[in-house]
Amino acid sequence: MHMHILLVHAYPHALSPGGPMNRRFLFLLGSSRAGGNTELLARRAAEQLPGDVEQEWISLAEHPLPDFADLRHDTDHVRPTDGAAALLLDATLAATDVVIASPLYWYSVSASTKRYLDHWAGWLRTPGLDFKAAMAGRTLWGVTALAHREQEVADPLIGTLRNSAAYMGMRFGGVLLGNGSKPGQVLADTGALARAKTFFAQDAPLARFPYEPA
Ligand SMILES: Cc1cc2nc3c(=O)[nH]c(=O)nc-3n(C[C@H](O)[C@H](O)[C@H](O)COP(=O)(O)O)c2cc1C
Repeated sequence: MHMHILLVHAYPHALSPGGPMNRRFLFLLGSSRAGGNTELLARRAAEQLPGDVEQEWISLAEHPLPDFADLRHDTDHVRPTDGAAALLLDATLAATDVVIASPLYWYSVSASTKRYLDHWAGWLRTPGLDFKAAMAGRTLWGVTALAHREQEVADPLIGTLRNSAAYMGMRFGGVLLGNGSKPGQVLADTGALARAKTFFAQDAPLARFPYEPA
């Protein structure tokens, strides 16, 4: 069985630009196919990360989560100990930066991505985890490919990620958008490739809901 989890262990530098805590990026691939445009674009952006930033890549299609069952007001959620939920929870808690790399499906995130986010609701209610406090101050990023040329049709996806980050007290680095339908087409979107070069170098302010003053 392939694990398809790539751990890039970097050589620790004495000082990293972001401060003493080494950054660790978790890339969650939400496409229903491997090697698609979203993944290609995410890899272009990730290539620019400094060598001392760790990267972990997990395909949500290869590690399918069960549908989320809402036990929040019924019994306690328990911390998952095996399977995709345990893998994804541990990887999430280990990350300073979570990158949702989901194609645009029906103007929002893919089902596997949405299911992963739904599981956050259970982790928020899992005794002993303190998931919200753990995630506060960390950074959420998005990468998406879409067939539509007018990028504003991705606003629901952007809103989902930004509002989720705001709810969690997380920082939000925005969403890197690329155009493409067939795998590989995003590599012809020169604007997207240019934005990928500096995407993760951007400042990621604390996320705010649209009604909150900037
Ligand atoms: C289920 C499904 C829903 C889609 N919905 C949209 C959409 O709402 N808007 C759009 O522009 N493209 C849509 N597309 C096209 C994909 O976003 C496009 O093919 C993209 O390149 C897929 O990303 P991937 O190559 O990373 O899998 C959809 C594709 C699928 C399979």
